[in-house]
Parts: sequence; C-alpha cells; structure tokens
Amino acid sequence: MFIDCLTIFPEFFVSPLQEGIVRRALLDGKIEIGVHNIREYATDRHSMTDDRPFGGGEGMVMKPEPLSRCLHAARKEGADSRVILLSPVGEQFDQKMAERLASHEQLILVCGRYEGVDERFRQQYVDEEISIGDYVLTGGELAALVVLDAVIRLLPGVLGCGESATNDSFSCGLLKHRQYTRPRVFENMAVPEVLLSGDHAAVARHRLVESVVLTLQRRPDLLAGMRFTPAERKTLRQAGVLDQVDTAIRTLAQEKSHEG
Ligand code: ADE
Repeated sequence: MFIDCLTIFPEFFVSPLQEGIVRRALLDGKIEIGVHNIREYATDRHSMTDDRPFGGGEGMVMKPEPLSRCLHAARKEGADSRVILLSPVGEQFDQKMAERLASHEQLILVCGRYEGVDERFRQQYVDEEISIGDYVLTGGELAALVVLDAVIRLLPGVLGCGESATNDSFSCGLLKHRQYTRPRVFENMAVPEVLLSGDHAAVARHRLVESVVLTLQRRPDLLAGMRFTPAERKTLRQAGVLDQVDTAIRTLAQEKSHEG
C-alpha cells in the first residue's frame, strides 16, 4: 500500500514512522509512505499556503491551489486511491473504517490546518473527511498518524505471528479481554487460575466472559445487534451475565427503534 501525507509540517511524521511495527512494515516493503510538503507547491514569493477567509472571520484558510498541485504530485496514476481530509467535522474514525481503508492501493491523507481548507478543494478532490474524535487538534497531522497506524497494522503480513489483529478490541464487536504475563504473583495478586490450566477451551470461555463484562461496563453501545452462539450463551449464563447482556441488547434495540 502507498500512503501519502500532505502537510505543511512534514517533520511531524519523522519519528512516528521510525518505530516499531510501522518501521518494520516500511523496511519489509509492505508499505511506502510519502510525506509531501504543501509549501513546496505554493508559487507566490512567500510560499503562502493560507489566506484570510472571504466574508471575514477569524483565522486563516488553506489555499486550494498548493493543495491541488501537491495532491496531483502525490497521486499514483492508475492506482485505486482514496483522498482523505482529516478534520474535526469529518465522520468519526473507527475500526470498521480502518478495515475498509486497508483495502485501497493508495491513501492520500490531507492534513488540514488553521480554520480549514478551501471548500472548493474539498468538493473537487476529497473522497471522505475523517475526524478521530470530538476534540479539536491544532491540525490534521496527529489524526493522519492515527489513521495510518490503525490501517497499517491490518495489512497482510504486517503483524507477525502472535500479533494477530483478529482478536483486537472492536474487530469482533467486543472490547478485548485483559491480559496477564509472568510473574504468576505480582504484589500479592495471582493470575487467574484458569489461564495456567492449559485447558484452551476453558481459557477461551474465561476470556469471552471477561470481554463481555468489560464491554458491558465500558461500552455497552457496542453490544447493539450482537448475536452470541448457543455455546457462548451457555458460557455467559454460567458466568451469571447472560441476563444483563440480553437486557442491554434489548434496550439498545428499543432505543434504536424510537430514534427511527
Ligand atoms: N484536525 C483538528 N482536529 C481534528 C480531529 N479531531 N480529527 C481529525 N482532524 C482534526
């Protein structure tokens, strides 16, 4: 996959791309990342990438021409490219979106700054606008790094054995269970006995219950439309949480039908 970031602060991308799994994916040739300085595509004497908003108001707006020239330079001809604008008014980023984006040949991440980008650039070139959460950052660079990181780890062969993405939080609709490692006892707290038993089915049941309980406590909204197999329901009943799960799912369905 090609990932190209359009920014006026290319230095933002230097160290995050030199660490851990992203670095390994780059070295292995699983991804190619281009960081493009929008300023290099400004043609006026002062290399201006922003200007005052028409109609007045605070702040500055990113000019469309340097952005479009930079985009043309970054786009791989003939590739299935997706142009994404990072902005606080975008659709909220989540794991499903990361999975969808991972299927494209090229992602072009446009990092907005100031009060935003000129609307005509957005209309003409942007396929989707993404926000990473309900807060305002100083610009889209950190958001682009979040998207890039979440997508890269889903690409085939990027995670090694034992680092699989299939049991991630969100990928199966639940939050991931808690984890333990050596020592068996830490500050008087022992690892749950079942995890030492070697009984893989019992471990899986224990983890399912842990996941469900954590999701009920932290993110009950994730349970909307969730379906458990008869075996899973039996495990949840034995753990005493099935009624709570069914009530949560029913309540969410009722809320949804009232909204609709
Ligand atoms: N730029 C500023 N705030 C942002 C956010 N929350 N998500 C994406 N881009 C942004």
